[in-house]
Amino acid sequence: MTLRLGDIAPDFTAVTTEGSIHFHEWLGSSWGVLFSHPKNYTPVCTTELGYTAKLKPEFDKRNVKAIGLSVDKLEDHHGWSKDIEETQGAALNFPLIADADKKVSDLYDMIHPNASDTFTVRSVFVIDPNKKVRLILTYPASTGRNFDEILRVIDSLQLTDRHKVATPVNWKHGEDVIIVPALKNEDAAKLFPDGWKTVKPYLRVVPQPKG
Ligand code: BEZ
Repeated sequence: MTLRLGDIAPDFTAVTTEGSIHFHEWLGSSWGVLFSHPKNYTPVCTTELGYTAKLKPEFDKRNVKAIGLSVDKLEDHHGWSKDIEETQGAALNFPLIADADKKVSDLYDMIHPNASDTFTVRSVFVIDPNKKVRLILTYPASTGRNFDEILRVIDSLQLTDRHKVATPVNWKHGEDVIIVPALKNEDAAKLFPDGWKTVKPYLRVVPQPKG
């Protein structure tokens, strides 16, 4: 199934390292980061999962739950998690889906047969509390992802959901943002009473709104 931004993230039940879950129920009112890694007991995946575990306080701050997936069996996940703790200095603190029958991988189109017909690629889906898909990333097996970038996008999504702004290139939390083009100056004046800088009529820069 091809998923696009704005689609409802498909629901599923799955066996994970934290027991059986119903995905939508497990998400509850949180944001979610569902990500696949190609295979257990591989070096790049080991670093990604350790780093994601270290980011838990950052995910918690943003009301985000992370959940990993590979097409390995549950017993392999349990064995490998000890290696992650030993080598990365952080124990797994989020569930890993054991998708040996590829049910969830197929549902989310995580297997790209011309890359590998056996393993998932490195997919990432950011899902909002309405269960809508808000970000899709696809990385090759040989390239570890930048999980700080995933947090950065979540910051942007949460901010731009609350305010009539968009975030510019390489933006980071706390930096100036852009007033959305659809907002007329007279309406912008009500929302941004301290004013903004007009670089071009379509490029109006304002400090990041609070809250
Ligand atoms: C890794 O996680 O290290 C990896 C997995 C599949 C292919 C290449 C690298």
